[in-house]
Amino acid sequence: MKIAIVGASGAVGQEFLKLLETGMLPVDELTLFGSPRSAGRTYPFRGRELTVRLLQHNDDFRNIDIALVSAGGTASREFAETITRHGALMIDNSSAFRMEADVPLVVPEVNPEDARNAPRRIIANPNCTTIQMVVALAAIERISHIRKVRVATYQSASGAGASAMEELTTQHAQLAAGAEPTVGKFAYQLAYNLIPHVDVFTENDYTREEMKMLNETQKIMHSDVLVSATCVRVPVMRAHSESIWIETERPVSVEEARAAFAAAPGVVVQDDPAFNRYPMPLFAAGQDPVYVGRIRRDLTSPNGLTFWCVADQIRKGAALNAVQIARLFV
Ligand SMILES: NC(=O)c1ccc[n+]([C@@H]2O[C@H](COP(=O)([O-])OP(=O)(O)OC[C@H]3O[C@@H](n4cnc5c(N)ncnc54)[C@H](OP(=O)(O)O)[C@@H]3O)[C@@H](O)[C@H]2O)c1
Repeated sequence: MKIAIVGASGAVGQEFLKLLETGMLPVDELTLFGSPRSAGRTYPFRGRELTVRLLQHNDDFRNIDIALVSAGGTASREFAETITRHGALMIDNSSAFRMEADVPLVVPEVNPEDARNAPRRIIANPNCTTIQMVVALAAIERISHIRKVRVATYQSASGAGASAMEELTTQHAQLAAGAEPTVGKFAYQLAYNLIPHVDVFTENDYTREEMKMLNETQKIMHSDVLVSATCVRVPVMRAHSESIWIETERPVSVEEARAAFAAAPGVVVQDDPAFNRYPMPLFAAGQDPVYVGRIRRDLTSPNGLTFWCVADQIRKGAALNAVQIARLFV
């Protein structure tokens, strides 16, 4: 297959390179694209150096089968026509097309069949916080319909890209040296702090990230489930964590839920309080699964369960999910 990575220099783009290196897709030819900032830079792939090409409105995608795109919403909107017009399938990590009716929004463990109908040759990769949550929710939905979800997220710096990771490292070094920290990527200093603000605020005082968790979950799960989210940026480098409370149509016991999670594709249960065993971002970083633990009754509701969910959002929340979508076409 002839594959392109658009946004190769970014946090997600670099993860695509790592995943393709492992042979997850049968790559005959790989082409890298970027903006003028990274065009000309080289990255190693299978013993060769690949040079990043400038993304432009030309015929560079004529022979491409699948374009793995992670260059932000503006570039996705601007270049979608250029990327798809010769038949390439665009798997897009940005939020540009996620809620459009003729663009499937796919998590392969949950709704792989939706990928079959992509009339615009675009398939959207959901928001990272939503992906890990729906992989876990789907396990319970299979045994009882989920009516309501309340979720608080603990989102790592890398969710905002490579420069946000750099900023967090720099802030720690600056503070250790007694200097003023440089603040650019987030509204406030992230080092030694929590910021209850991910993406921009909307008219109802939720942020766009929080509304994505409602709207995208309903679209992926083909469900009327209601989701109320509070999204928080935390000074963790990589992997998002989520505290999730669900209300199901019938009461689901902890044992039933644990068995459902254990049987669900993509989920690994780490839940043994006696041995302090529960998922943590430090150990989920760089890993593929969605980890679930701290499974227990919600003390406020007879039909309620609560659990803790951690996944590497650059991997399962972005690059891995997109490559899994591509594999549906191999
Ligand atoms: N980070 C995550 O955890 C995560 C998770 C899910 C989804 N996403 C989404 O994935 C996308 C990329 O995120 P990221 O975290 O990888 O960001 P990033 O580290 O800031 O990287 C952005 C990438 O986009 C490229 N780019 C920007 N404008 C471009 C243009 N006009 N033409 C070509 N390339 C362009 C950049 O290339 P240059 O270096 O050449 O500018 C860079 O490679 C975003 O839409 C983001 O919302 C990210």
